[in-house]
Amino acid sequence: MLIDLEAVTKIYNQGQINQVSALRSVRLAVAKGEMVCVQGPSGSGKTTLLSIIGCIFSPTSGRATIGGRKISRLPDHFLTLYRRELIGFVFQNYNMIDHLTVLENITLPLIPLGISPRVREKKGDLLLEKFGLRHRKKFAVNQLSGGELQRAAIARALINDPPIIVADEPTAHLDGILSLEVVDMLAALKKEGRTVVVSSHDPIVSGHPGMTRIIEVRDGLIMPNIGKA
Ligand SMILES: Nc1ncnc2c1ncn2[C@@H]1O[C@H](COP(=O)(O)OP(=O)(O)OP(=O)(O)O)[C@@H](O)[C@H]1O
Ligand SMILES: [Mg+2]
Repeated sequence: MLIDLEAVTKIYNQGQINQVSALRSVRLAVAKGEMVCVQGPSGSGKTTLLSIIGCIFSPTSGRATIGGRKISRLPDHFLTLYRRELIGFVFQNYNMIDHLTVLENITLPLIPLGISPRVREKKGDLLLEKFGLRHRKKFAVNQLSGGELQRAAIARALINDPPIIVADEPTAHLDGILSLEVVDMLAALKKEGRTVVVSSHDPIVSGHPGMTRIIEVRDGLIMPNIGKA
């Protein structure tokens, strides 16, 4: 399995008065080439689950193997390396740096790899072209429309050519047509052989023909298989 979680828990603020059990003994296996939709009410643990799959943090307990790498009980330094190698993460609130240009934002993950500005720009140009953003290359990201910003966020997730794409509510700020455009893009990435995990409440996302599976998170637990809508 490309993504394999076994008895995974995540406790925020452990031992403190504001302790939260965001995931409670979760088991999830995702095969290469799947496109999985994670549904669930606000606060149910979707972002937490995606953050573990996305190697943003490791579980409090349990076993998590992502792309054959064991990420449970791993020093943060290794987690960062695995994240760079394996994951393209599209954040719920984009996580773009406002005063930088679209090109600079998209190519930012290449800087710690020591890649030269010329090569960074070349790689960035390819993605800007792919996502219809060439004419926005030198714009500051705070000058983009919502749809453009979401496309830029997906482009940035792809800059390291990762096998796994994790997208947290990628259509939350978009209207119907733009939402469909975004899921179509994610489905195209699946067709390229990547594995896609996307959280959403949006029926345009869960009902997309490219989706191979829908899972439901409730109060930190994954519900019994609800299959495909
Ligand atoms: N950094 C944090 N510190 C403390 N508690 C947190 C933290 N992040 C999330 N939580 C709590 O963990 C639980 C799960 O949060 P999470 O963000 O995973 O939910 P979600 O399903 O993504 O919600 P939404 O649909 O609103 O994005 C919530 O009760 C939340 O308040
Ligand atoms: Mg969330």
